[in-house]
Parts: sequence; structure tokens; C-alpha cells
Amino acid sequence: MDVLVIGSGGREHAIVDALSRSPQVEKIWCAPGNAGIARQAECVAIRDTEVERLRDFALEHRIGLTVVGPEAALAAGVVDCFKAAGLRIFGPTRAAARIESSKEFAKRLMAKYNIPTAGFRAFSDYTEARDYVAGRPFPAVLKYDGLAAGKGVVIARTMEEADAALRDMLLDDKFGEGKVVVEDFLEGPEFSFMCFVSGHRVWPMVLAQDHKRAYDGDEGPNTGGMGAYSPLPFITAEDERFALERIMQPVADAMVAEGCPFEGVLYGGLMKTPHGIQVIEFNARFGDPETEVVLPRLGSDIADIFCAVAEGRDAELSWHDFATLGIVLASKGYPGSYEKGFEIRGLDTVGCPVYHMGTKADGDRIVTAGGRVLFVVGRGATLAEARRVALENVARIGCDNLFHRSDIGHWALDKQ
Ligand code: AMP
Ligand code: GLY
Repeated sequence: MDVLVIGSGGREHAIVDALSRSPQVEKIWCAPGNAGIARQAECVAIRDTEVERLRDFALEHRIGLTVVGPEAALAAGVVDCFKAAGLRIFGPTRAAARIESSKEFAKRLMAKYNIPTAGFRAFSDYTEARDYVAGRPFPAVLKYDGLAAGKGVVIARTMEEADAALRDMLLDDKFGEGKVVVEDFLEGPEFSFMCFVSGHRVWPMVLAQDHKRAYDGDEGPNTGGMGAYSPLPFITAEDERFALERIMQPVADAMVAEGCPFEGVLYGGLMKTPHGIQVIEFNARFGDPETEVVLPRLGSDIADIFCAVAEGRDAELSWHDFATLGIVLASKGYPGSYEKGFEIRGLDTVGCPVYHMGTKADGDRIVTAGGRVLFVVGRGATLAEARRVALENVARIGCDNLFHRSDIGHWALDKQ
């Protein structure tokens, strides 16, 4: 079977890497891909939201399975378009992907089906939102009701901060037109629980934790994620069972009941609060960078799982015991503005997987081409060993414009 992967980041590189281990997969294409993916797949210059061009490519090249990485492609309706053409594709329809693309849809679904999550109200009027926030305790959690690359959430400590965020979101439409969801503030360690879902069927993956803040000690602005690791020693088997039975399975069932059954990866961004596990957000796709630490631990054939989800049949999942810990190398300035085009040296000397997040080939050289650039994944019998391997290999990569966090995994490793 020939496979097409849509997307161009570290997540897609990890998916391509996992597919390359499948005996069923002959050729892997990736649209548009990046310089690292190009070593394991043939890249095609079609953007992830050019839905019709992607469909025509898949028809022309007799693609047996397409796997969608990014949320933008899902929100653009790539799955609906492929299905209408009779093509097999792994991912949710646009209607099902609303669980990520609309915070209001997700919050209303959770309220209706009693899924534990922070209390909320949605506003489209700036004055109403401001008056509501002014009458409540701080910090205030303000979320833009649409896709904003992980940057549409503001935890405001003061009314001034809240007012500035509400102005950005509702008066200046900084992320586009859309409502704002105001939520209760929750506290506790966060973790990512990704499940393969096909209608009522839910297959859990191993847990991972992402690090959203830019700098060590969880300081600095929110990013798309600066590192991740798996497994998570502070989440018990009982927590995991609760998350599966009281959150992920009921949500899969709710999506069927609402007439938009979910197919693909349902990602629960969960928090272990003093009052139990609560949902922070759902994503309708693999997390990035969680996927890059979770898929290397998968023992089963991923192509078989993708096909089982798309066809609504059973599949077996098995997992390796080893730990993985990955570190993002990001362009200086990220998540704000940054320069691109800096040469990356030493990649050939690295002794562990390096997933490319934002790179491009420039003749024989590989240069930076995004905010998050590389993801180095250490593996070990323990998380401490995996971190040592990751840091050792990060040190072998030379580039004048990259920075990274040195404390990935601190929730598990440094707080005991
Ligand atoms: P989201 O994009 O919804 O995952 O939010 C981004 C980040 O903001 C989360 O990873 C949390 O760290 C934080 N956050 C979101 N919602 C809440 C909440 N209700 N209480 C506390 N922190 C939150
Ligand atoms: N790592 C968070 C996300 O993929 O949204």
C-alpha cells in the first residue's frame, strides 16, 4: 500500500517514521513535508489546506491510505473531501473536528454529557465579557473560540491583563472573528491522553506530558510545546482508568449521539486537580510534540491501526516499556518573531531519533525554516536515562540561532 501523510512538522515526521516500520507500507509520500521527512518519504509541494489538490494527488497516485497531521487541514474539510471521492483517510470530518476548532462546541458537549471540565461562559460582546470578568476571582482564563496555534489562551492575573486580552480577541479580532470563552481557573499537573477513536471504539495510547512555556522553570510565553516525555509516573493506573472511562469513552459516545462520530486521534488535554481529573481542551489530531515521544513506544503496526480506525474494525495495540524524552530546538525569539535560514550542523553525529519540525534543504545544507526547528528524542530504561541521552545529543547539534529547555521532564524527575 502507498501512503500519503499530510503536514510538515515533527509530528508528521514521527508518523512517517512509524509507517516506515510497517511491512504493509510500500511507498510513503508527504505533503508538503520538510528536509528531514524527505529522507524517509517523497515530499510533494502541496500545502496542507489545498484540499482538492491533495485529493487529486491521492487519486492519481492510487494512495491506499492518507493520514492527516494538522488541525488546519481537518478544519478545511480534507477528510470530507477524500471520503466523497471514495478514498481511505485517517482523521475526523470537519463536523467532528469542531471538538478542537470550536472551544464553545467542546464546552457545550462536555456540559451536556457531564464530562468533568472547568465552568465556562462564552461571549461575543466585549463589554459583556469585561463586566463578567471584572466580577469574578482572578486569575481569569480567557480563550479565543477558534484555532490559534496554541496561542489563543490568556491566563490574566489582573483586570488590566484581562482587558488587553479581551480587546485583542473581541475588538481587534487579532486571531480572526470569533467568541471568547471565559473559564474557571484550575490547578495541577497537565497531561496528554491520546486515543485512537472509531465511533464507539476507543484505543488508549500511552500518556505523555508536553511543556508549553518557552523557558526553563515553566517561565515565559506559551508556545506550541517545547518538549515532551512518556510515561508519566505521577499519573496512576486509577487516574488513567478514570480518564478513559469517564472522559474519553463518553466523549466518543457523545460524538456518535450528536451525529458526528469521531474517527482519528482524540487528544485529551487533561489536568490532575485536587478535585479529580478535568478536561482543559480536546484536540482532533495527534499532539505535537507528544506524538514524537509516544509513537516510538508503539510496538504494533501503525498502518494496521490507521486502517482499522478508517474501516471500523478491531486492532491490537502493544507498547514498549522504555521511556522517551524529547527536546525541542527552537529559533531564538520563538514564539515571537524570529529569523530563518541558519545552517544546522552535526545532524549526522546524533545517535538518537531527530524529528524535523521546521527545516528546509538549501543545496547540501539543512537550514532553519520555522519557530520550532528540531526535536531530539532520547530513549532509556528510565526517564532520567532518556533525558541524559536527549541532552547529550542536543549538544552535538550546531546552529547559531537555536535555543532549548534543559528541564524537560522536571515534573517527573526533579520534584520528588
Ligand atoms: P489550551 O489551549 O486550552 O490547552 O490552553 C493552553 C494552556 O493554558 C493549558 O495548557 C493550560 O496550561 C492553561 N489553561 C487552559 N485552561 C485553563 C484553566 N481552566 N485553568 C488553568 N489553566 C488553564
Ligand atoms: N502539544 C499540544 C498540541 O499538540 O496541541
